[in-house]
Order: sequence, then structure tokens, then C-alpha cells
Amino acid sequence: MAPILQLSTAALSLCVSLIAWLRSKPSNPFSTADIEPFHISHYLSNNTIRSWEQGVWTQALLEVHNPELTVFATNPFPHGRLPMVPCDLHSVPGLASAAAYTQVNGTLLCDGGGSPADPASLGTQAVLLSSRDPCQTRPAFPSAEAFRDAAKSQAEYLLHNATKFHINETHAATSHRDEPPELWGDFVYTVPPFMAYYGVAVESAEYLDYAVRECQLYNEALATDVRLASGAQCSGLWRHIVSEPRQLPKDVCCTDPYVWLTSNAWAIAGMTRVLASLKPWTTTRLRSWSDDGRSFDRDAAIASLTNIIKDMLNCLILQTRGDDSDLLKNYLDGPGSASSAWAFGDAAGTALVTSAVYRLATLLPEVFAKPEYMTWADRNLFAVAKHVHQDGRVGPVAQINGVPSTKAVDTTSEGQSMALLLYAARRDFLRARGWLGRLGL
Ligand SMILES: *[C@@H]1O[C@H](CO)[C@@H](O)[C@H](O)[C@H]1NC(C)=O
Ligand SMILES: *[C@@H]1O[C@H](CO)[C@@H](O)[C@H](O)[C@H]1NC(C)=O
Ligand SMILES: *[C@@H]1O[C@H](CO)[C@@H](O)[C@H](O)[C@H]1NC(C)=O
Ligand SMILES: *[C@@H]1O[C@H](CO)[C@@H](O)[C@H](O)[C@H]1NC(C)=O
Repeated sequence: MAPILQLSTAALSLCVSLIAWLRSKPSNPFSTADIEPFHISHYLSNNTIRSWEQGVWTQALLEVHNPELTVFATNPFPHGRLPMVPCDLHSVPGLASAAAYTQVNGTLLCDGGGSPADPASLGTQAVLLSSRDPCQTRPAFPSAEAFRDAAKSQAEYLLHNATKFHINETHAATSHRDEPPELWGDFVYTVPPFMAYYGVAVESAEYLDYAVRECQLYNEALATDVRLASGAQCSGLWRHIVSEPRQLPKDVCCTDPYVWLTSNAWAIAGMTRVLASLKPWTTTRLRSWSDDGRSFDRDAAIASLTNIIKDMLNCLILQTRGDDSDLLKNYLDGPGSASSAWAFGDAAGTALVTSAVYRLATLLPEVFAKPEYMTWADRNLFAVAKHVHQDGRVGPVAQINGVPSTKAVDTTSEGQSMALLLYAARRDFLRARGWLGRLGL
């Protein structure tokens, strides 16, 4: 009996050391009880008022609760179509909220406060609501057809009616605001992801082409050079807002010539959602869709957006972090710029850009699942987790009541949503990597 006993003792001690080793691995900070997404989402729910806040909040709820309905699903377009949404929206809180926020009878999906672009942040949700199962009982929300018409009206307005910003004699981009013409990096999260998704829904190359072209034009106009703390220079990050005319009269909204983290994060995360809409179409229709003599080159679009994102990230990872927070800085123009006075660590922008990196590493692992990006993203993740407070509040974050954003505040609605997006992106990244990912290896 003794050898068997010895063997099982050895096996037991091996087990014990294996367990000890696993427990000594850094744990996934988002799997610990004090930073459950429930607390984060609870904190924000009474404070989500403006159009884009409602857009990103409902998108974050979708990504947390119903990843199968988002472009980040393993199969976002089952049989080449939109996923079906159940009639009863109780199990889909992101769409129940989006349905409540959306006005289906107007030109735009809601009041954008002078921006035709911000209401489009509810656009992907409206397209999904147009794919809702018919209801047997009296539905609590407008019909699928009503949402289809509302999404169409928003999309057509952006394509044909919205103010244009002239980049040069031959090219113009859609302005983020009605007047004066302005390009905001923020636009790239609200408009292109919607237009790409809408293009898939109505099988139109024109909308897909528009989505990608706007990202390229915005990059053309907003990308700039940054002088880093080390003295080195890098290019690729975007200024926040460029206006026409460049110098606005006093009291005319809005201008911000500096490199704002949140705006760059919006742009990177928005282009990531466009990439996720294009990625599944490897051999099927979309690869060669064309209408009105227009054709859409999916592979060239993916390559172009990937390059823009890489240039932005490559300049971002060289930046020093904010004070002792270990968060990325609110402004990224470097110590020689006036904006360095407001370059505090910002949990919101850090969360959003990091969520995009986990999504990119899942979508395009050959480009982004590299140590230089993943080590950086993990450090950002831990820094954000340290700034999720017991009650669910995420802060400090950049103030959004005016531009430039010069103050750190305790919490914002968009900051709460961005932390939820990070939670979902990290969770899905670990799931995609299987058991190795779950062990944090
Ligand atoms: C939201 O709720 C918190 C906590 O109850 C409260 O302090 C805050 O003022 C509320 N915000 C709004 C906009 O109602
Ligand atoms: C659309 O309906 C909402 C109420 O659901 C109403 O407040 C709004 O004025 C309507 N807008 C138009 C353009 O009819
Ligand atoms: C948009 O422009 C078209 C013509 O290009 C016009 O027929 C339509 O009325 C306009 N829509 C709005 C809401 O301004
Ligand atoms: C205008 O900008 C577009 C887009 O960046 C570029 O392709 C084109 O060459 C530019 N045209 C002129 C005349 O500079």
C-alpha cells in the first residue's frame, strides 16, 4: 500500500502547488466582485441625457448583456443577415433603452443639439430594432418598420443633407455640426459604425464606402505631429476639433486644436467597429458589392483603417502617463503645449481606447495581438480598475461641458459607459483565447 500512498501524496502535493501557482497569477481585475459591471451601470443610469451619451450607454449595455447582437459576435451576420431580435426586449436592456430614447418620427433619431452626427450614435441600435421579431401581444415600442424608416432617414440625411467641411478643392467630409462646419474626432464613433452597419443591412456599397471614406477624410484633416516628453516627435494622433473658419468668432461653438485623448479614443473605437462590420465578409457578397457603378473594395478598406489605427496607437503608446494615476493623459500634445496644463490622468479615454485594443487583438490578431500593444493595454486595464470606486463610479474623468476639456471631474455618463465597454471587450478577448485566456496566461 505504501507506494500507492506515496504516489497519491505526490499527486496531492502537485495539485496543491498547481493551485497555489494559479492563485498567484494576477487575477482578472474585472472578475472581482467590487467592480462588477452592475455597479458601474447602476451609477450612471440617472445621468444619461445627451444624444451621444444615450448612444454609447445603449451600445455598452448591448456589449455587456447581448454580445451576440453586436458586430463583435463570433458570427455577427448569421446567414449573411442581421441577427433576429426578440419581440420582448426585457432580455435586451440595451435595445429597450435605445427604443425609449429614439424618436422614430423625426428626420434624426433624436435631438442632437446642433449636431446631425451625435444622434447617429443610436443608429446601430435602430437598425437592430428594425430586425425585431413581430410581436404577438401589443408591443411596448414602435414597430420594426418604424425603426427601419427612422434609421433610413438618419442615414440619408447624413449622406445627402448634412453640412460639408471642405478638406481641399475636391474633397469634403460630413461636418459634425450644422454650423459652422467642424470636424470632431468624436464623429468617428457616432457615424461610420452606424453607416457601415446600415450598409450591410440594406446591402448598399454606397453606405459602406461612405463609412470608410469619412474615416479617411477625418484622418487627413485631423492627424498631426506631437512632440513627446522625450523630445522625440511622432505623428498620427488627431486634434480634437478643426473648424471652418479656423478662428471662430467669440461665443461660437466649438474649437479645440489640441490632441484630446477621449476624441482619439472615440476615433479608434469607431474605426474598430467599422472593421468588425467588414471583417466577416471574406468570400461572400460584400466583397464585391457594387451599385450605381460604385464598387466597394473590402480588403483595401480594411488595410486603410488598420493603418490609420496603427499610426494613432503607435504614437499613443509612446506617451508618458498622468501623474501617479498610471492613467493615460487627457491631452497628448506634450509638455511644450498649452494643453499640458490639463494633462491629468483620465479614466474615461483610457478605458475606451483600451477596449478598442482588446477588440482589435481579437479581430486582427496578426496585427494587434502583439506584446507591444497587449502589455500596454493590460497596464491601462489595471489603471482603470484602480479608478472604479466601491459605488461603481469611474473617475477622475475629463469634464465634457465645454471644449477644450480642462477639468477632471468625479464621473461622467460617457466615462461610465466606456468602463463598461472595456469590461465587455476584455471579457470577450479572454473568451476568444479560450482557457489559456481565462487563466490569465
Ligand atoms: C444621480 O444619482 C446620484 C446618486 O443618487 C446623485 O448624487 C446625482 O445627483 C444624480 N444625478 C442626476 C443628474 O440626477
Ligand atoms: C415625435 O414624437 C415625440 C413623442 O413620441 C414628440 O415629442 C415629437 O414632437 C414628435 N416629433 C415630430 C417631428 O413629430
Ligand atoms: C435632403 O436633401 C434632399 C435633396 O437632396 C431634399 O429633397 C430633402 O428634402 C432634404 N431633407 C431634409 C430633411 O432636409
Ligand atoms: C484632396 O484631399 C484628398 C483626400 O485626402 C486627396 O486624395 C486629394 O489628392 C486632395 N486634392 C488636392 C488637390 O490636394
